[in-house]
Amino acid sequence: MLWIDIDRDKPIPLTRQIYCEFRDKILRGEWTAGFKLPSTRKMAQELRISRNVVIEAYDQLFVEGYIESRQGSGYFVAPGIYLEQFARGTDLPQPSPGDQSEGLIDFRSGVPDLEHFPRSLWGKTVQRVCQDAPLSAFGYNRPEGRAELRDVLSRYLYRTRGVQCAPERIVMTSGATQALMLIAKVLLAPESRVLIEDPITQDIQTIFASTGARLCPVPVDACGMAMDKLSATPVNAAPSFVFVTPSHQFPLGTTLTIQRRIQLIQYARSVDCYIVEDDYDSEFRYESPPISSIQGLAPERVIYIGSFSKILSPGLRLGYLVLPEALVERYQKAKWLTDLHTSSIDQLALARFIEEGHLEKYVTRMKKLYKKRRQCLTDALRDTFGDQVAIWGEAAGLHIVAAFSHVRFTPDVVAALEAAGVRVYPVEEHTIAKGRHADKIVLGYGNVGEEKIAEGVARLEKGLALHGMHG
Ligand SMILES: Cc1ncc(COP(=O)(O)O)c(C=O)c1O
Repeated sequence: MLWIDIDRDKPIPLTRQIYCEFRDKILRGEWTAGFKLPSTRKMAQELRISRNVVIEAYDQLFVEGYIESRQGSGYFVAPGIYLEQFARGTDLPQPSPGDQSEGLIDFRSGVPDLEHFPRSLWGKTVQRVCQDAPLSAFGYNRPEGRAELRDVLSRYLYRTRGVQCAPERIVMTSGATQALMLIAKVLLAPESRVLIEDPITQDIQTIFASTGARLCPVPVDACGMAMDKLSATPVNAAPSFVFVTPSHQFPLGTTLTIQRRIQLIQYARSVDCYIVEDDYDSEFRYESPPISSIQGLAPERVIYIGSFSKILSPGLRLGYLVLPEALVERYQKAKWLTDLHTSSIDQLALARFIEEGHLEKYVTRMKKLYKKRRQCLTDALRDTFGDQVAIWGEAAGLHIVAAFSHVRFTPDVVAALEAAGVRVYPVEEHTIAKGRHADKIVLGYGNVGEEKIAEGVARLEKGLALHGMHG
């Protein structure tokens, strides 16, 4: 009796089960070199399975060298196969437990409405590109991306964002995130300094800090980065760059005033550093036209980052850098050494999508939807919490910040809210200097319908009341 454990109900073929049982016994040292395996016929009888199944399992063990055959005597365990501390993994990857948080209303920021993605139009565009793109598009291409897209993009950026750039100044990237990674790679070293808005996303902090560079936080107030604090921030050496999200600060939502933009450019010129302008969601402004970029005021000083994640889909991973002329070649090299180039077919599809006017029409349509959602969220918050809540930031983007006079969003409070069915994101998670924004949460509304927004605010009220913080 060999104590082979096989189970006909398992979704694993019997051959595989026998193979694994035998292999494991050999590796664990239960069966040592020279041990004789039962004949395939006896094994098949014992397990009451077809002999072919056993033969196949033995063949596999033989091919992999676990057993050897001796003419006329059968199969024996081969020498030298005991593996110390052999632990058998699970046979099959276990199915993931599914979305544990079903029913949860998630106010995650920065996610556009996914249901409205123009699937059919985008699909048709990709199909046309596949049919008539030049052969070169299917080979290795240049790191900065396809000229067709950079041409269209330079005109689009001038029209919509006041960005001044020849197509040669653009390097296409895999989203804004890769643009940030390339900036870190090219401009930062362990002794570098970065002046950065505080708060700012945790990911951006991690990307810059991972080079060993020191982050020097500059607070943000209702007019954006506090410029008086900038010149007062102790920086031993000139910073490599100042990082800003001037059109719509993330997360606080403020817009850098024109006076401060001028001060920022003057500062960068005086210490001879760059300004990195992250323009991640600026197309969405609901009560005024989009603010022009800082890049348009000082193209030689500004590294401008853009992305199609919010205006189209984060799943496409399409973003770009607009660079001062002096930096272009270094970024092309860095991009090449990172992933050669961004998908040429997707780039060509995007070029057509913009050229044929689909992108601007889509943005206009989505702006109406987001404006309504934003209104719905701010109305619900004011109706529910009255003067205990203040809304931060401009009517722009895909999120708001709500400040509560009577709440501090500690991990316990956030967990209690999650138990009440609503997920919110404390601003403190994005701060460098801790403790100044504990009363605030970021609420993203891009991918939350109006009904869910109302229900989410109701759950927020209930959750806070249970915690003794409201009502
Ligand atoms: C301020 C900011 N910059 C950059 C990004 C990265 O965007 P992506 O890599 O999807 O283009 C985000 C994402 O939400 C963001 O909030």
